[in-house]
Amino acid sequence: MIKEKTNIAVFISGRGTNLKALILRSNKNSCNYKIAFVVSNKKNAAGLKIAKKNKILTKIISKQFLKAEQKKLAKILINKNIQFICLAGFMKILSPYFLNFFKNKVINIHPSLLPKYKGLNTHHRALKAKEKFSGCTIHYVSKKLDSGKIIAKKKVKILKKDTIKKLEKRVLKEENKLYPIVLEKLIMS
Ligand code: GRF
Repeated sequence: MIKEKTNIAVFISGRGTNLKALILRSNKNSCNYKIAFVVSNKKNAAGLKIAKKNKILTKIISKQFLKAEQKKLAKILINKNIQFICLAGFMKILSPYFLNFFKNKVINIHPSLLPKYKGLNTHHRALKAKEKFSGCTIHYVSKKLDSGKIIAKKKVKILKKDTIKKLEKRVLKEENKLYPIVLEKLIMS
């Protein structure tokens, strides 16, 4: 019997390389998930084009994203039988009200080895602190920013000649590899 694929929503705000990596993996027959919905708080996010190209339903949320809208979005996601929400460069904080609808179902990818360097400018801060390693972390989303339970990490060595851009590029490459693998494992478990 062929098992049905698990429905996933991806929340973005910009470029969408992680979204693309998740979609690419999902297109394989052997993959256990399907990207069924993409949400963005930016109507011009480049990632939306990737979603549309792959015929994935998209939705733009408002800047305010107040309770009534959150409830509406949660209902849509529940109706679409969304089992996990993957944040991928989503620059808005989800309220506890929204998160309550999806306990342990919202995950995020962050460009540092958490708990180090929560928040923004992670590569700049890691370089400034002369860290030997940086990397990325996938974690559950909780009320506190970048502080939910860690699911997986991938280390990236910092090189002597690294700049923010060079480091970001190498970390992003690892993010794009890690996210689909971790999601598949999470669904299996
Ligand atoms: C990634 O570096 C991710 O870790 C961070 O935002 C960036 C999003 O990149 N949260 P992209 O839009 O997936 O290319």
